Amino acid sequence: MASLPREQWSSRYGFVMAAVGSAVGLGNMWRFSYLTAENGGAAFVVLYLAITLVVGLPVLLAELTLGRGAQKSPIRALAHFGGNRWKPLGLVFVAAGFLILSYYSVIAGWTVRYALSGIVFGFDGDAAANFGEVATGWDAFGFHLAFMAGTIYIVAHGVSGGIERTAMILMPALFAIVIALAFYASTLEGAGGGYAYYLETDFTKLSELDVWKAAAGQAFFSLSLGMGAMLTFASYLDRNSNLPAESIVIAVADVGIAFIAGLVVFPMIYALNLSSDVGESTVGALFITLPKAFAEMGGVGRGVGGLFFVALVVGALTSAISLLEVVVSAAIDGLGWSRRFAAVVLGATIAVIGIPSAWNTNILGAVDEVANNIFLLGGGFALAIFVGWWMADPEGEVAQGTSGPFWLPIWRNLLRFAVPLFLGFVLYFAIPSTWRTVASLF
Ligand code: TRP
Repeated sequence: MASLPREQWSSRYGFVMAAVGSAVGLGNMWRFSYLTAENGGAAFVVLYLAITLVVGLPVLLAELTLGRGAQKSPIRALAHFGGNRWKPLGLVFVAAGFLILSYYSVIAGWTVRYALSGIVFGFDGDAAANFGEVATGWDAFGFHLAFMAGTIYIVAHGVSGGIERTAMILMPALFAIVIALAFYASTLEGAGGGYAYYLETDFTKLSELDVWKAAAGQAFFSLSLGMGAMLTFASYLDRNSNLPAESIVIAVADVGIAFIAGLVVFPMIYALNLSSDVGESTVGALFITLPKAFAEMGGVGRGVGGLFFVALVVGALTSAISLLEVVVSAAIDGLGWSRRFAAVVLGATIAVIGIPSAWNTNILGAVDEVANNIFLLGGGFALAIFVGWWMADPEGEVAQGTSGPFWLPIWRNLLRFAVPLFLGFVLYFAIPSTWRTVASLF
């Protein structure tokens, strides 16, 4: 088949916005705050930052290096540098894309619904009682479908015309909203209790393995690592881009937005005396507590809450397109499908796979756990082994287009030793507990 020239980003800024768009999403605002609440505040935050720096950043640079070097989607990129025996790993990545987007879109659907109904009708003071109705059943399914349709529409319009354009418009808007909300939250009376909770460190929590597992999973999920999403985006870069610089910009933006989102969520919850609601935090915590806070703020709450949920929708959309792009690019490269056909058929398939998650939040939670603890951490482990031990000259590949920073040998050694050891350790504990979660569904 005569193949078209490979699509490319139209600018460095466009790529960075798209990659930051992938990283910044529900993970930063929804997942980060409920995990922080559940795992003891700042001790968790510090651990998450450390893991992002020592484990996440090296894997991010590894993904960018593979994608840009091969100029191919994940399955082919792995075969390009490692031979056909590595293709199954690429298939696992694509499977992870199906799995993650299927429930991610359900949660994104909740955010669309909250944004709309909050702005139009005002927020619900008794969101706890009505959360079940929002989060499951036909309503949840309908918003999940609508969100998938939007994602498909953007991906069908291509790398620079769809994904890049969307990210270049929406990401600066998201930054502005989140920063403005953090300022607003700081003016609330009683915000101090929220900061204290968020920023006071209880280091004894670091002795709990569950906290390590959660922090590692979050570091990977938030940076979109371990399933070839960043790899796929990097495959549309030209060969002279500066990968170390890009990876640092992406990681800093991702961590920065998560941190600032915490400065929005916790002060608001404390200012309105809702902290006890967070105690029994589940996947729903943010969706129950915050609407209550917005409802109690009266008229202002409608604007503030509306902006908050709009930011969540934006973050979710730019992340969802990166997940769908992994699957679509694999079908374009591997099966010769057209982009439009691939986006529609695969997007629709993912919408169907999401049905159980739209019907039952326990299923959704279990799929989230499997995706993170097994697929992403396992994928990160395999990527580290691949680039650290198998690939011929990763340092040379990174140095293409830059002068090659002095720390490249450190990077390689992190991938060889520290990253696989750490992830192996976490997986050793995460696999049995994830298994128990899945078994408890039946
Ligand atoms: N990083 C996104 C978030 O924080 C979610 C996401 C997008 C993702 N692409 C991914 C997670 C790829 C894992 C893998 O919301």
